This record gives sequence, C-alpha cells and structure tokens, in this order.
Amino acid sequence: MSEIRFDGKVALITGAGGGLGKTYALQLASRGCKIVVNDLGGKADGTGASSSMADQTVKEITEAGGQAVSNYDSVATPEGGKAIVQAALDHFGRLDVVINNAGILRDKTFAKLEPQDLEAVVDVHLKGAFFVTQPAFSHMKEQGYGRVVFTASNAGILGNFGQTNYGAAKMGLVGLCNVLSLEGAKYNIKCNVIAPVARTRLTEQLLGPLAQTLDPECVTPLVTWLASEQCDVTHSIFSVGGGRYARMFVGLTPGWFAGKGAKPSPEQVRDHMGEIRDTAKYIIPDSIADEMKLMLELFNG
Ligand code: NAI
Repeated sequence: MSEIRFDGKVALITGAGGGLGKTYALQLASRGCKIVVNDLGGKADGTGASSSMADQTVKEITEAGGQAVSNYDSVATPEGGKAIVQAALDHFGRLDVVINNAGILRDKTFAKLEPQDLEAVVDVHLKGAFFVTQPAFSHMKEQGYGRVVFTASNAGILGNFGQTNYGAAKMGLVGLCNVLSLEGAKYNIKCNVIAPVARTRLTEQLLGPLAQTLDPECVTPLVTWLASEQCDVTHSIFSVGGGRYARMFVGLTPGWFAGKGAKPSPEQVRDHMGEIRDTAKYIIPDSIADEMKLMLELFNG
C-alpha cells in the first residue's frame, strides 16, 4: 500500500510539548500534516504552566521544514478546548485529526485519595477529551471526515495498584470512544483508543528495568496510522509499547440463561458461575444492539 501521508490535513495534538505527544507531532509533521501543538507546559502532577514545551516542539517541526503552531491552553476547561480547536481553524482553516494525549498523574492509594486528586485527574484526562473533541467533532461532521485518537491506559483497562483516579478517568475514555465511534460512523469519523506503555517523564520512575526498551517512538507509528485517511478501523482499543501492537476488547460470554420468565435464586446463580464466566465462546459486541440481539434470540428460543 502507498505511503501514509497527511498533505493538506491538519492535526491537533494535546500535550504535544513532550513525551509521546511530541513524537506524534514530529512524525505527522514529517508526513505533511500541519500541527497545532497544544501543551500547558506544567509539571507531571498538573501544577504550573509555561509556553516553552509547546514552543520547543514547534521549533523542531519548523526547523525540519514542517508547519506547526503552538497553543498553551489547558484542555481541562470548555473554554480551553474551544480555543485549542479554534487555533487549528484560525491558523490552518480546517481540522482533520484530534489526538487526545494530554495527561497528568496524582497517584495515591484509594484510602488516601483527596478530592482534588480525583478532580484534577478527571478534569485533564476525561473532561479534557470531551472539551477538545466536542468542538472538533462538530467541525468534522460538517466536513464529513475526521480521525480521533484517545489515550487510555492499562491502569484503567486492566487495573493497577494506587491509580483509582487515573484508572477511572482512563476507562471513561473507552466509554467516550465507544459511543463517539457510533455517532461518527456515518460522517467518516473514526475513533480509536490506545493504551500505551513508554518511557516518559510520567513513567520513568515506574517502569523499572523495562524502561530502556520502551521508547516512545515505538507507540508513534500506530497513532500515525490511526490518524491517517488509510485508517479503516473504528471503535477499537490497542495496547502498544516496546514494538508490540495488540488489540484489546470488551468481550461478552454466552452466559447462563435461566429460562424465559424465570426468577432464579442466588444459589442458582452461584451454581452456574462457571458457565456465566466461561470465556470459551465469547463475542465482541459492536454496540449495545449486538447484546440485545443475543438476548432476543434467547428469549425467542
Ligand atoms: P508527558 O508528561 O510527557 O506528556 C503529557 C503532556 O501533557 C505534558 O507535556 C503536559 O505538559 C501536558 N499536559 C498536562 N496537562 C495538560 C493540560 N491540562 N492541558 C494541556 N496539556 C497538558 O507523559 P506521556 O507519558 O507522554 O503521556 C501522554 C499520555 O499517555 C497521557 O495521557 C498519559 O496518561 C498516557 N499514558 C502514558 C503511559 C506511558 O507509559 N508513558 C502509559 C499509559 C498512558
């Protein structure tokens, strides 16, 4: 197949002043994409702000012959989200790709979690993706084209000690993407989720001996493909890190059917738990309609 190019396309990448986001910005720009490099420029816990991180990415893109513009708004407010999208429209006249990547960490065990640690993390990861993607989506609908990438985490999809706030916010993005991919389907807007693992300032203390093999640049090519016109998948989750690319999914087991109209006892449910949890013949529903279809088939014998 032909080379993946972005000539004439515009991408908005949040948190693109460093880490993973910067690698996306550099690769997309090197393939002809015009980039809005958004970054608040604060610390890993979300405090502080500066223009230097976004500016540095823009400098590297322009020095390499690409086109990019900085934006320093926080994704964590509706005004910030609108301003970031507007930056794309003002500078480049269109918007084709949104990569929701901005992120912070406030790790604490559940018992010690303060309300402000929950709010800050949900605001940036989950609400931030809403605030940026919503104005972008309206524009994409009108133009009949769009690519949206959400950045979740295995901390939420699989679970990780000490990250209830982060895990919940990240899993929320899976729900957002599941629904948005359905709403975007008829407008050729494809929405997907990545769960990356990479050595960045967020993880350098956490990855241990694995860190040296987890270059952020190993995540980049998947995101570039998901952002491209050639991307023909939507509603999908990918685990990506260290050169391995894998699909993750929500599966549904056939389960145990007590019978039409039956009201089984808790003991019966207990006794069928093996069947209920048996993954041998699971399906991957594309939407709630797939499960409804399955239930109707059961009810109708
Ligand atoms: P990073 O800290 O290098 O990048 C995050 C960027 O987001 C920073 O440049 C930061 O200034 C920016 N940012 C933070 N709050 C912002 C806000 N309110 N508005 C705009 N920009 C803001 O860390 P990394 O690892 O590159 O993270 C990128 C994304 O990947 C994050 O969403 C993170 O949660 C996610 N992730 C990373 C993993 C990893 O192994 N590095 C694992 C799982 C998820």
